[in-house]
Amino acid sequence: MIVFKNIKEIVSLSGVAKKLGKNISSADLDIIENGCIVENNGKIVWIGSFDELPNRFKKCKTISLKQKTILPSFVECHTHTVFAGNRSTEFELRQQGVSYQEIAKRGGGIKYTVEETRKATEASLKRLAQNSAKDFLRQGVTTLEIKSGYGLDFKNEVKILKTAKSLKGPDIITTYLGPHAVPKEHKNADEYIKTIIADLPKIKNYAKRVDIFVEGGYFSIEQAKMYFKAANALGFQIVVHADQMSRTGASVLAAELGALSCDHVIHITDDDIQSLAVSTVTAVLLPTSDQYLQIPYPKARKLLNAGVRVALATDYNPGTSPTRDVSYVGVLARVEMKMLLHEVIAAYTYNAACALGLESKVGSLEVGKHANFVVVENYQDLFYQVGWSPVEQVYKNGKRMKL
Ligand code: NIG
Ligand code: FE
Repeated sequence: MIVFKNIKEIVSLSGVAKKLGKNISSADLDIIENGCIVENNGKIVWIGSFDELPNRFKKCKTISLKQKTILPSFVECHTHTVFAGNRSTEFELRQQGVSYQEIAKRGGGIKYTVEETRKATEASLKRLAQNSAKDFLRQGVTTLEIKSGYGLDFKNEVKILKTAKSLKGPDIITTYLGPHAVPKEHKNADEYIKTIIADLPKIKNYAKRVDIFVEGGYFSIEQAKMYFKAANALGFQIVVHADQMSRTGASVLAAELGALSCDHVIHITDDDIQSLAVSTVTAVLLPTSDQYLQIPYPKARKLLNAGVRVALATDYNPGTSPTRDVSYVGVLARVEMKMLLHEVIAAYTYNAACALGLESKVGSLEVGKHANFVVVENYQDLFYQVGWSPVEQVYKNGKRMKL
């Protein structure tokens, strides 16, 4: 049992949690002045103002946080962290006016990363991905979602999922993204999706979540329906790459099917936004990938004002978002999408936890939840400077992590 004391402010987000991350105001950060947290076996057993610390905790071991501020550590809810190879030349091609879809037709894009990832051994993939996981941890991420999707056959998809699960540092949540693109050995998406559905029972050993890229030239809404029906029957949680480059209706499908998240959500109508608002789905916005692709940003203000729960993530991948910079995502959210600081903080903590179905465990600092928190000087310094993180210390399950 440890008593963390001398905390200038605890940004607890208990109000955000009460409102399920929807229609929140800055008051919902529920800041506790001169705060104190008692941890036991990795969980929070008491939280409040130090003046009100119950006598029964007064003889416990203490750690002084020296008048710093703490808040829930970050939840990075959408990444493609395990891959091999580099696509920097593609970026330059796009600068010359070649579209993402045209690059894919020429054998580049996801297909190129698939070739490189298939060739790579588990050990070499792990070396690269471990470096990335450490980089996320340094920025305060203690829960990291990682998708497969660069193997596109059972053996290589499992290789990626196993590599992801073996990473140290943040807690890893794996997601199966077999339907990311059609691999060269399959005639078409219809044929490939059948193989994927047949593999799903075995995938259960490596991931509890499934994702699909619904987009022209990739997978259709009908194929997504078939896939989700099979996945639902097997008890998978579902998420979807939705309405990124064109409107396919995948966001609304996600809302209707009780999916945990619909991610990207750029090309959506006002009616679509209403459907998301009345559902339990979280809209995950990925502004660095929009910037790299030079496509419009999602209408964050419309989503937020309509009462949609909004999360943010890096979408870290070698093609559309070759950056792991959490601060930068928040800066883009503030500058380009007019999100306010409390909305960005919630989007990277409680709301991102909802996108992973983990909101009863992480994402806010409350009794019963994991003692996962970051130490900063002032929370107002967050999501402000690009290329620098104000996070000084990171605790996971009450233990200080080596950064
Ligand atoms: O989230 N849109 C599909 N998947 C990724 C891009 C993957 C790639 O280009 O390698 C994304 O943007
Ligand atoms: Fe993605």
